[in-house]
Amino acid sequence: MDKNNYYNEIIKMAIDVRNYSYSPYSGFKVGACLRDKEGNLFTGCNIENAAFSPTNCAERTAFFKAVSEGSREFECIAIAGGASEKIRDFCPPCGVCRQVMMEFCDPVTFKIILVKSENEYREMLLKDLLPEGFGALNIK
Ligand code: THU
Repeated sequence: MDKNNYYNEIIKMAIDVRNYSYSPYSGFKVGACLRDKEGNLFTGCNIENAAFSPTNCAERTAFFKAVSEGSREFECIAIAGGASEKIRDFCPPCGVCRQVMMEFCDPVTFKIILVKSENEYREMLLKDLLPEGFGALNIK
C-alpha cells in the first residue's frame, strides 16, 4: 500500500507519546496515534495499575479520548511499543484493542500501522488482524 502523506506525522506522534507511558509493572512502553476521517489526531499511551486488570492499552486510551471528544469515524492508527528506549520490534494490538477498533471502524478500510522507527513500519487492515470480527452489525 502507498504511504499516505500524513503517516510521517502520526508515526512520530506514536513514538513520542510513549514517553508518557505509565508502565511501572511491565516496563513495556506503548504509544499510539489515532487519526479520524476529518484528520483530527488523538494520542494515547498505556496506563498500568497495581491491580493489573484496570490497565489500559495505548490504543484504547487513544480511542476513548477520541470518542469522548465526539469523534467516531476513524481512518488509521499508528502503534509503537517496546520494553527498551529504542523499539526493537513491531507491537501488534492486543485482542481487546482489536475488538474496540471493531466497534468504531470499518474492518475493510481501517489501517493499523505498526511502527518500529520513523522509517520502518508495517501497514495492515483490521479485517486481517481480526478476521470474522464480531461487531454492531451482528447484533442488529
Ligand atoms: N500494551 C499496549 O498498550 N498495547 C498493545 O498493543 C499491547 C500491550 C500494554 C499493556 C501493558 O501495559 C503492557 O503493554 C504490557 O502488556
